Amino acid sequence: MDIEELYKKAKEASENSYSPYSRFRVGAALLSSDEEIFTGTNVENRSFGLTICAERSALVSAVARGKTRFKALFVYCPDAESPVSPCGACRQVISEFVPEDFPVIFRDKNGKTVKTTMGELFPYDSLHDLANRDSM
Ligand code: THU
Repeated sequence: MDIEELYKKAKEASENSYSPYSRFRVGAALLSSDEEIFTGTNVENRSFGLTICAERSALVSAVARGKTRFKALFVYCPDAESPVSPCGACRQVISEFVPEDFPVIFRDKNGKTVKTTMGELFPYDSLHDLANRDSM
């Protein structure tokens, strides 16, 4: 897995951010188990509450292409002074598809990078990776 390739794709996606309200661009790159990269960006709305984050945008795009197994997620915020992790809503949605040891990496505008796991971001969840369990 090439983390810097994921960063490049997340950066490209952040350039398409639709964020006229916050002026805070976010790009996400999600690596599928068969090594395809799916990207997403944040899409804001004048209702504010209907804003879609970059992470969910990437995940939905991947699932729409038939991918439900993933190797890593990279989140890049070119406007952030410190690395920004996925929000609570995104953590819930991502946890549907990935195990606790799933790597999540996030980077700020200065290149400061944090590498963690889904289990750390969304702990005490006995239902991680529901989508890929055999016994359903
Ligand atoms: N945002 C994301 O897309 N992902 C994150 O991890 C943090 C927040 C977006 C939502 C909103 O468009 C803007 O960033 C400011 O919160």
